[in-house]
Amino acid sequence: MPGARITGWGIAVPDKVVTNTDLSLRLDTSDEWITERTGIKERHIGGTTSELAIAAGRAALDRAGVSPGEIDVLVLATTTPDAIVPGTSATVQDGLGTAGGAMDLNAACSGFVYGMVAAHGLALAGASKILLIGSETLSRITDWDDRTLAILVGDGAGAVVLEATDGPGELLGWHLGADGSLRHLLHCEHGGHLWMNGKEIFRHAVRAVIESSLTALERAGLSPDDVDMFIPHQANARIITAAASRLGISEDRYVVTIDRYGNTSSASIPLALAHAIESDRLHRGDIVLLSGFGGGMTWASAVLRWGL
Ligand code: UT7
Repeated sequence: MPGARITGWGIAVPDKVVTNTDLSLRLDTSDEWITERTGIKERHIGGTTSELAIAAGRAALDRAGVSPGEIDVLVLATTTPDAIVPGTSATVQDGLGTAGGAMDLNAACSGFVYGMVAAHGLALAGASKILLIGSETLSRITDWDDRTLAILVGDGAGAVVLEATDGPGELLGWHLGADGSLRHLLHCEHGGHLWMNGKEIFRHAVRAVIESSLTALERAGLSPDDVDMFIPHQANARIITAAASRLGISEDRYVVTIDRYGNTSSASIPLALAHAIESDRLHRGDIVLLSGFGGGMTWASAVLRWGL
């Protein structure tokens, strides 16, 4: 069966950096509290979801050596679209000049991994080149007087180009899940601000990452011991370390970038993936586990055999 493999990646973050100390000047919080409870030190803020997506998408296309006109489908994972209608993917399609279809995918912070699984399905259905982007501007739906959320969020985008392969592709196993009865735990109404029950999300998140990761690994015929690099959604460093330690994945085998980016929702996994590539922590043949969770609640894991 034909599959797909990643052939290029790119990221984009706004220039403006906001440190914990900056936030502590206007909110009842401190660098010490934020660092200890979340692992975040700073985040990038600014821009629009489409601007960041276009910049990350262009970088990924350049790295893959693929021209926009060769793209069959553009998938934009975002929970912070520029507008309700049209889909932000339309703006991104126009900005990049991609051929083929363009669609938004909203599975909150799980969006990029949902998109990764969907992209492999599109390749199986005959698409030869897919541009998958996770892009967010959570800062635009954040109440900057609400210290619970203001300290967590960041803006950014990450993208990958996937190209169909003749033989089996990179995706070895996957698992997608949703429980809409928990949608009240994290939501934003039209024109409103993000609201979150942090404690409850935290509790569900650790369990979701562990169970979803184990299911995806089992479907791939693998165990956590086989994982060379675990790239989880970056929502809280304590969630990452709790899940990794319960999976038995040691510190040298997982990626943490929340210190520099904060929680960038569906952009967090491609930002962390790019960081792992750029810091030479990923090698051809490595088993890579991606796992995300977020509003909905949704969760998603994908096991890849790294091919770059
Ligand atoms: O992307 C997916 C969705 N989001 C998540 O996965 C987020 C999951 N949840 C979390 O990351 C954590 O629950 C938070 C970081 C949001 C909060 O951390 P926590 O350890 O659960 O703190 P808490 O809400 O239990 O609050 C502990 C204390 C409270 O004071 P008291 O009652 O002990 O006196 C809070 O009022 O910390 C206080 N507090 C703060 N203090 C300084 C809450 N927020 C802050 C703050 N700065 N920003």
